[in-house]
Amino acid sequence: MATQAEHSSTNRRDFLFVATGAVGAVGAAAVVWPLINQLNPDASTLALASIEFDVGAIPEGQSVTITWRGLPVFVRHRTAAEIEEAKAVPLSDLKDPATDEERTKPGHEQWLIMIANCTHLGCIPVGESGDFDGWFCPCHGSHYDTAGRVRRGPAPKNLVVPPYEFVSDTLVQIG
Ligand code: FES
Repeated sequence: MATQAEHSSTNRRDFLFVATGAVGAVGAAAVVWPLINQLNPDASTLALASIEFDVGAIPEGQSVTITWRGLPVFVRHRTAAEIEEAKAVPLSDLKDPATDEERTKPGHEQWLIMIANCTHLGCIPVGESGDFDGWFCPCHGSHYDTAGRVRRGPAPKNLVVPPYEFVSDTLVQIG
């Protein structure tokens, strides 16, 4: 039969265990909540999850920069020469191999749509410049070709093509 001393020692241990468990649970909840909160887009973000943009007003050889989900996005109306130049590049010449077809939509190859952040450290490259007739990032000297593929400099990847589709001949939905 347990003595009074043994009882109180057991009870104290139980209490300590419960107290530690409770602190652990509170600590875990405090860590998890901000993460969950960050993963929940607020209403304004949801509203901008996809946008529609009419490319019809962009003349051949011109680009515009629009904003999608807070990111700048290049929309370029490529010339026939730019498309030919991009298609003529062997994949073996590319640091981040991708065909021109993989970066555009069938029947809409003249439209090149890409997130306008250099894949090195995120600067916005300058259009119609650089050694490959595409974009040049003056921050650290990355050159992109007429399909937005990195050809020289520290950028590790091609300019990113966001998810998009043409909902009519000139209306594009991004996102
Ligand atoms: S951010 Fe473009 S080259 Fe460094």
